Amino acid sequence: LNNGLALTPQMGWNSWNFFACSISEDLIKETADALVSTGLADLGYVYVNIDDCWSAATRNLKGQLVPDPKTFPSGIKALSDYVHGKGLKLGIYGDAGAFTCQVRPGSLFHETGDAQLFADWGVDYLKYDNCFNLGIDPKKRYPPMRDALNATGRTIFYSICEWGVEDPALWARGVGNSWRTTDDINDTWASMTTIADINDKWASHAGPGGWNDPDMLEVGNGGMTYQEYRAHFSIWALMKAPLLIGCDVRNMTAETLEILSNKEVISVNQDSLGVQGRKVYVSGEANCLQVWAGPLSGNRLVVAFWNRCSKAATITARWDVLGLESSTHVSIRDLWQVIKLTFQLVFWLKELKLRLTFCVRRRSYQKVYQVYKTASNSPNT
Ligand code: DGJ
Repeated sequence: LNNGLALTPQMGWNSWNFFACSISEDLIKETADALVSTGLADLGYVYVNIDDCWSAATRNLKGQLVPDPKTFPSGIKALSDYVHGKGLKLGIYGDAGAFTCQVRPGSLFHETGDAQLFADWGVDYLKYDNCFNLGIDPKKRYPPMRDALNATGRTIFYSICEWGVEDPALWARGVGNSWRTTDDINDTWASMTTIADINDKWASHAGPGGWNDPDMLEVGNGGMTYQEYRAHFSIWALMKAPLLIGCDVRNMTAETLEILSNKEVISVNQDSLGVQGRKVYVSGEANCLQVWAGPLSGNRLVVAFWNRCSKAATITARWDVLGLESSTHVSIRDLWQVIKLTFQLVFWLKELKLRLTFCVRRRSYQKVYQVYKTASNSPNT
């Protein structure tokens, strides 16, 4: 969509994967705080996106959507003020049908009023779902919200959540800034790999302004190992997928933060060329040894050697598979090796600081003790 947004895939956080309907304004504020304090916001994770269940079960007498008074008592405007105050952006959720998937009011046939309300509330991003769609063609249901958002005069990121049912990659470029290519992800290796393969089919349709969306990240939610989450994050970055964190960023392990903070992997995703990398070579049993690759700006390319077999293996990427001349000389960086070393260094420095602090504390404690002893003994000496 040519609205000046999504020149690179969107980055941020979304409430659904971890919290589902257990959301509140406090959670959203604490998440915004955590994105800043962990450094994730500085790395580009700026959208704080509320998913389904923020709204009350019915519209008000004026026909407007109303935030659930129990969980969002201060309203969405207050929340967007808070989030903007942190230098972040607020996302909200709606549905191109009669109801949202969790049976809150949908926006079909209410596009103009709802878009204006979102704009008045200071919303920066709309995820627009596909439940209770009355069997109406998505090509008829999604453009009206694009036009309504555009008519508000506020620039709002438009994320089409049509689950890939009617092949949105084929029609959504002029409609939204991203479009879901698959059904919902879940926190398993099987789901993540299947979704990656489906999303790969639509690679040629992605580019600045509009991206294939294989759904939000599961990194940090506990269903996969550290290595598996690293693969998940790497492939999402290479595929130019939206990087929307789906875990509880208030309570992340160091490993989760390490994965999500890998600057070089993020910069693969945010590369200005905006070409979706793809699966370029497979071998092994059931094609489980794979090479994924794609071009980057500055005469570079990204290559992922993805072992999806159950045991260790050697994967070879031939130059021609990567689109290189056989005479080409390259220099190579392992983007995960770097982060490991950096984290080890940071850890080592922290440890050193801790030890030094401890030594200094001990020394000063002894000094105090000596002074005290001299003082208490002094009357007798
Ligand atoms: C279906 C979407 O695909 C999910 O990402 C999430 O938004 C749920 N609906 C919410 O009900």
